[in-house]
Amino acid sequence: MRRILLVGANGQVGRELQQTLPPVGDVIQITRSTLDLTDTQQIRAVLHEAKPDWIVNAAAYTAVDKAESEADLAIAINATAPKVMAEVAVQQGCSLLHLSTDYVFNGQKNTPYLEADPVNPLGVYARSKLLGEQGIQQVWSTAHPSCSYFILRTAWVYGALGAVNFVKTMLRLGADREEIRVVADQVGSPTWAKDLAGAIAQFIVKSADATPDPSDLSGIYHYTNSGVASWYDFAIAIFEEAAAIGFPLQVQRVVPIGTVDYPTPAKRPAYSVLSGKKTAALLGTHPPHWRRSLRLMLTELYTQTYESTHSIGR
Ligand SMILES: NC(=O)c1ccc[n+]([C@@H]2O[C@H](COP(=O)([O-])OP(=O)(O)OC[C@H]3O[C@@H](n4cnc5c(N)ncnc54)[C@H](OP(=O)(O)O)[C@@H]3O)[C@@H](O)[C@H]2O)c1
Repeated sequence: MRRILLVGANGQVGRELQQTLPPVGDVIQITRSTLDLTDTQQIRAVLHEAKPDWIVNAAAYTAVDKAESEADLAIAINATAPKVMAEVAVQQGCSLLHLSTDYVFNGQKNTPYLEADPVNPLGVYARSKLLGEQGIQQVWSTAHPSCSYFILRTAWVYGALGAVNFVKTMLRLGADREEIRVVADQVGSPTWAKDLAGAIAQFIVKSADATPDPSDLSGIYHYTNSGVASWYDFAIAIFEEAAAIGFPLQVQRVVPIGTVDYPTPAKRPAYSVLSGKKTAALLGTHPPHWRRSLRLMLTELYTQTYESTHSIGR
């Protein structure tokens, strides 16, 4: 069995990867308590000791707005750390799968972004993630190793496990308020962390199947659920699906507002739909539609939140 080092095992995507990676390898889970990604010496030591066949890096500084005032920290975690991982990976002949973001684009397009489209990040978080991509590519292009790297850009991720996300925030607000105002002029593809984690496991399997040289597959790929929504559309769908499942909700009205009405420290792209064609061609499957995945996630969250509580009370 291949050895997979899962970095960021406690994050939203990392927790889903804890479920999807074991069928494709022996997983070594790495969390902040065992590896602080601001410590480059520690990164090298942990990777040398573990000697994995694969590194899956699901760790990142993800506080998009806070990053505007913590640029050094964001760059250390999102740019320096992945580059160091890449350096050790090529020395050890280990493959690397690293997650990146739709925010590397400026959102000026109105058709899905291709992997090769020009990048132009709008904020510190986005810039730090782009630097991470570039660091990995630079290491690989200098060393020409036989192992592969995959930079997988994703977007608008939510899951039942892990920290706060848009779905959980809407459910919290919707439980208390009658009216909720949501931005309607930013468009993307909501993506369930569980689908993303499944795709990551498939990348590992597909690259092993590749002949004659798996490193030919190295590069940037996009993965999101299929379909397109604004945050407003997404909020409406969350409340419709959640109400049908039985979540307690007070919300009566969702009011569409403009980005100008909801100023944030970091600018976000107005349009960040990612083309998944390259990934679908490699994996041989198309991602599920976001609304179907939302329904499944909410069902899972409902079971976790309410049915387990009820059974304790019985
Ligand atoms: N969420 C989205 O909407 C979205 C969209 C596009 C791309 N992405 C990308 O997808 C990936 C996974 O995102 P996610 O939503 O799963 O993020 P997340 O839930 O915030 O998880 C990030 C993980 O990184 C860990 N981490 C942060 N700083 C660290 C440090 N100094 N040392 C070690 N670990 C550290 C965190 O550890 P703690 O648990 O200890 O805090 C956390 O477990 C990231 O690369 C992100 O940029 C996410």
